[in-house]
Amino acid sequence: MTATEFLAPTLGPDEDELERSLRPRSLDDFVGQERVKEQLAIALEAAKARGEALDHVLLVGPPGLGKTSLAFIVREELGVGIRTVAGPALERKGDMAAILTGLDERHVLFVDEIHRLNRAVEEILYPALEDFRLDIIVGQGAAARTLTLDLPPFTLVGATTRTGLLTTPLRDRFGMTFRLDYYAPDELATIVRRSARILGVEIDDAAAVEIAGRSRGTPRIANRILRRVRDVAEVRHAGVVTNAVAAEALALLEVDGEGLERTDRELLRAIVGKFGGGPVGLSTLAVALGEEPDTIEDVYEPYLLQLGFIQRTPRGRIVTDRGRAHVGATADDKLF
Ligand SMILES: Nc1ncnc2c1ncn2[C@@H]1O[C@H](COP(=O)(O)OP(=O)(O)OP(=O)(O)O)[C@@H](O)[C@H]1O
Ligand SMILES: [Mg+2]
Repeated sequence: MTATEFLAPTLGPDEDELERSLRPRSLDDFVGQERVKEQLAIALEAAKARGEALDHVLLVGPPGLGKTSLAFIVREELGVGIRTVAGPALERKGDMAAILTGLDERHVLFVDEIHRLNRAVEEILYPALEDFRLDIIVGQGAAARTLTLDLPPFTLVGATTRTGLLTTPLRDRFGMTFRLDYYAPDELATIVRRSARILGVEIDDAAAVEIAGRSRGTPRIANRILRRVRDVAEVRHAGVVTNAVAAEALALLEVDGEGLERTDRELLRAIVGKFGGGPVGLSTLAVALGEEPDTIEDVYEPYLLQLGFIQRTPRGRIVTDRGRAHVGATADDKLF
């Protein structure tokens, strides 16, 4: 795996398994996001006490912050089944109708990348979400009729990277919307220590803090770095992860002091070097970097914005003085 793949929006083949083993199973296990947990805990308890399906939940946030984990926690806390599906995988109305009619009462339907549902499929969801009703049109032309099927009350948990991508009618049908924020360094250190325990890695506190500080506020990245650090510890240093071992591994991975990777720095440098610091439009920037515009918007930009290294203006992206200073001071060949 190359350094840039830390940010890869999709998981590698053996990573699925790893994510499952490190995934928190209960709200107590889920580190941070205190407000989200508190609100969710109340809603869960109330729904359970009433014996009703939980209101539909929309989870919003950049990749790797815990949306899928929370969806599974909801199911775990409710003690019900879950059906998971990726938005783009549903091509026809019939695909969604089949899933909806297969749900049991109070079960969870988790739709990942819900902003990528196609329109026809999405429209089937509206009455299903609001009245637990499925409207199916049978026949054609003048003979067409609408059949209405009752569905068991269920809970839709939708995940998306940006709310702005959702249509208003879909967004309005969620009873709760939770926005996941980047994690604070101490929360990430807790996650690193927890993952190390699960993986059987001996790690000292300073090393956990070091990894946490370079994980871009993202648990998935912290866990990925931990794995690479473990490799370095095992191959070069008898297995124990100290601060020095962590720093050595991070240098190998070209993760800098702010947690930025090569692609982040390339993005900043492209704006500075090729576009005079900006403003530059997203699509132009995407072409210059050889990346998809969506990947830039979902994966790279949010953290650079958070750091204050770039800004979005109506005319495009600009690099701030801080961003300029960061890449100015850290040419990749003299980074470490
Ligand atoms: N709050 C947390 N506490 C502990 N570990 C966490 C937490 N959030 C995420 N993780 C870890 O990070 C990994 C990635 O989280 P998850 O798959 O839930 O993110 P996601 O938001 O669904 O990402 P994507 O948008 O890419 O689907 C999990 O396997 C888990 O190990
Ligand atoms: Mg996910």
